[in-house]
Amino acid sequence: MTVRHLLEVDDLSPDELTRVLDLAEVDPPARPLEGRGVALLLEKPSARTRNATEMAVVQLGGHPVSMRGEEVGVDGRESAEDLARTLSGYHGAIGARVFDHHTLERMAGAARVPVVNLLSDVGHPTQALADLLTLRQHFGSLTGRQLAWVGDANNVFTSLSLAAAMAGMGVRAACPEGFGPDDAHLARVRARGGEVAVTTSPAEAVAGAHVVSTDVWTSMGQEHEAEARRRAFTGFRVDAALMAAAHADAVFLHCLPAHRGEEVATGVVDGPQSLVWPQATNRMHAVRGLLWFLLDGGRP
Ligand code: CP
Ligand code: NVA
Repeated sequence: MTVRHLLEVDDLSPDELTRVLDLAEVDPPARPLEGRGVALLLEKPSARTRNATEMAVVQLGGHPVSMRGEEVGVDGRESAEDLARTLSGYHGAIGARVFDHHTLERMAGAARVPVVNLLSDVGHPTQALADLLTLRQHFGSLTGRQLAWVGDANNVFTSLSLAAAMAGMGVRAACPEGFGPDDAHLARVRARGGEVAVTTSPAEAVAGAHVVSTDVWTSMGQEHEAEARRRAFTGFRVDAALMAAAHADAVFLHCLPAHRGEEVATGVVDGPQSLVWPQATNRMHAVRGLLWFLLDGGRP
């Protein structure tokens, strides 16, 4: 059987994406990871992704082994390829959170088991799966819903916009000049049958939207840009006034961690339209569905 990796959500077909979301809602009747481990390699901090994935592995009958990048010395003590080859001998799958997306591609090229992107500089696909699961549970279906992204067209945006397009949602993004999606990403979304409407006006992006989503202005690894970014993102906070411009039934999503008073007002992230806590819990259900699918096609 060919090894399936998940470096970005469109490594799945739209039907497979739906299947993963379906599996995420099922208590695994069997233990497809019985007697096997899953290696989780983390070059950056993580609360949700690590805990959600470890618990998903436990629920699938497996044993998670998490390690920080510096413990194993990725491309220092040994190459990412040699690590992937070694970990393939012990584990049913490898998850990795990396600074450079290319590290994941190199690991996937060498691994004999599925490699899952647990966040890179360019994507966060397991987050996007949880986000779609949360929205599907809330709205019942995704087709035709409008997603408004406000802020940085970062890794979380990249995966979420692709996933939303694959699920038949409309996507609008409001980003400051210089922080919007690049042409290659817009073309990739178009190739999946979707479209991202890009603007520099948050009010324009959220007008009538069913979902308003944002993320931190400064991602991990960009800390040296924090001050400049704070200036560039002035006016891009999701606050009550912005939420009021969205659809009356609109919900708010944030991958977390959130910076209250920066990219989102406290009253929004802690308010009645916020789905951030079910969204965070769904990280576990979504990655469990994904691992189950990648390991044996979700067979019971
Ligand atoms: N949303 C998310 O990936 O959170 P962590 O960085 O805590 O894993
Ligand atoms: N964009 C953020 C997401 C954290 C979960 C980062 O990469 O730091």
